[in-house]
Amino acid sequence: MRKMLITGGAGFIGVNAVRFFAAHDWDVTIFDNFSRRGTEYNMERLNADMPGRVRVVRGDVRTDSAKLRELAEQHDAILHLAAQVAVTTSVTDPRNDFECNALGTFNVLEAVRLSERRPFLLYSSTNKVYGGLENIPVAEEESRYVFAEGLQGVPETQQLDFHSPYGCSKGAADQYVRDYARLYDMKTVVFRQSCIYGPHQLGVEDQGWVAWFLIAGIFGRPVQIYGNGKQVRDLLYVDDLIACYHQAIEHADTVAGKVYNLGGGHENTLSLLEFLDLIKQEHGLDLPYSFAGTRPGDQPIFISDNSAAARDLGWRPATDVRSGIARLVEWLQAHKKDLQQFYASSGK
Ligand SMILES: NC(=O)c1ccc[n+]([C@@H]2O[C@H](COP(=O)([O-])OP(=O)(O)OC[C@H]3O[C@@H](n4cnc5c(N)ncnc54)[C@H](O)[C@@H]3O)[C@@H](O)[C@H]2O)c1
Repeated sequence: MRKMLITGGAGFIGVNAVRFFAAHDWDVTIFDNFSRRGTEYNMERLNADMPGRVRVVRGDVRTDSAKLRELAEQHDAILHLAAQVAVTTSVTDPRNDFECNALGTFNVLEAVRLSERRPFLLYSSTNKVYGGLENIPVAEEESRYVFAEGLQGVPETQQLDFHSPYGCSKGAADQYVRDYARLYDMKTVVFRQSCIYGPHQLGVEDQGWVAWFLIAGIFGRPVQIYGNGKQVRDLLYVDDLIACYHQAIEHADTVAGKVYNLGGGHENTLSLLEFLDLIKQEHGLDLPYSFAGTRPGDQPIFISDNSAAARDLGWRPATDVRSGIARLVEWLQAHKKDLQQFYASSGK
C-alpha cells in the first residue's frame, strides 16, 4: 500500500483528502497541531466513519523538523496543507503567519530533501500570490465586476505581487517549493488554489466565506460584506480539487517542478451579491447583510485559467457551482445540531 502524509490533515481540505485517499487504498498519516477550531470535531467524525483507518501524529510544522524528517522517510507522497489560513490574522500576528507558512513549508521541504525516500510533495498555494491584479482592466456591471478585455482567466504567467503577510508567506513558500524541484532534483508541484468550498468546511468570518454565509443563512444570522459585493470569485468544489491532487500523484513526472492555477474557472463564478441571491432563490436562505469598507488587497475579480492543469492532467472541475452549493447546503443541514453547538461556543 502506498503511504501518504497529509500535513494539516485535520482541517477542511485535509479531512476531505484523508477520506478520499484512505478510500483509495492509501495508507494515510495526518500531521496536525490541531490549532484550527473544529479539527477535533473533524477527527471525531473521521474516526466514526473510518475507525482505525488513519494514523494521527500531533506535531507542528514550525518546530517539529526532526519529526517531519522521520515521517518523510516513511511516506511516498506528502500533501502539505498545514498553514495559518486567514489574511486578517496574518495582519494582526505576522510572525506566527510567517512561521507557520514560510518556515513550516521550509521544514517540510528540508525533510524531503534530506530523506533517502524523497517523497513527492504537493503544496497548496493560493491565488493571493497575484495580489490585487491592478494591471488587469476591470469593468463594473450591475451585479459584478468583469474582466474588461475579454480575459477568461488568470494564467500562471501573471506577475507575482504578494499582498499581506499571508500573501508573502504563502508566496515565499510557493517559490521555495518550485525552486527545490529545480535545485535539488526533487519532485514537487505547486497548486495556486482559488476559493475552495465543500463539506467539512467550518467557515469563519475571516476564512471559508461560502460555508460561513450558508451557515449564517441557516441560523438567520447577519453577515458583513466588505466592499460593494460585486467582487467575483471562481468557486472550486473540494472533491474536484482532490481529484486534481490524485491525478498529479499518478502523473508526478509530468507535473514535477511546475505550478498550476486551480479554480472553478470561468464557468463557475459568482459575485457575493449573486451568491446571496442564489442561496435565497434556491435554498430559501435569506440572510440579513450590511456593507463595510473594502479589505486591503481584495481582488475585485479572480477567475483561474485552468488550461495548464487541463493540458497536463486532463483535469477540469466536474461540479458546477449550483450543484456544489446544493451539496454543501445538504451537508450543513444534516449537521445542523453539531454546527449550532460549535458556533455557539466559538462566539462567532
Ligand atoms: N480553503 C481555501 O479556499 C483555500 C484557498 C487557497 C489555498 N488554501 C490553502 O489550503 C490549505 C488548507 O486550507 P484549509 O481551508 O483546509 O484550512 P484549515 O484551516 O481548515 O486547515 C489547515 C490545517 O492546518 C493545521 N495547522 C495550522 N498551523 C499548523 C502548524 N503550525 N503545524 C501543523 N498544523 C497546523 C490546522 O490545525 C488545520 O487543521 C492551506 O495551506 C491554505 O493556505 C485554501
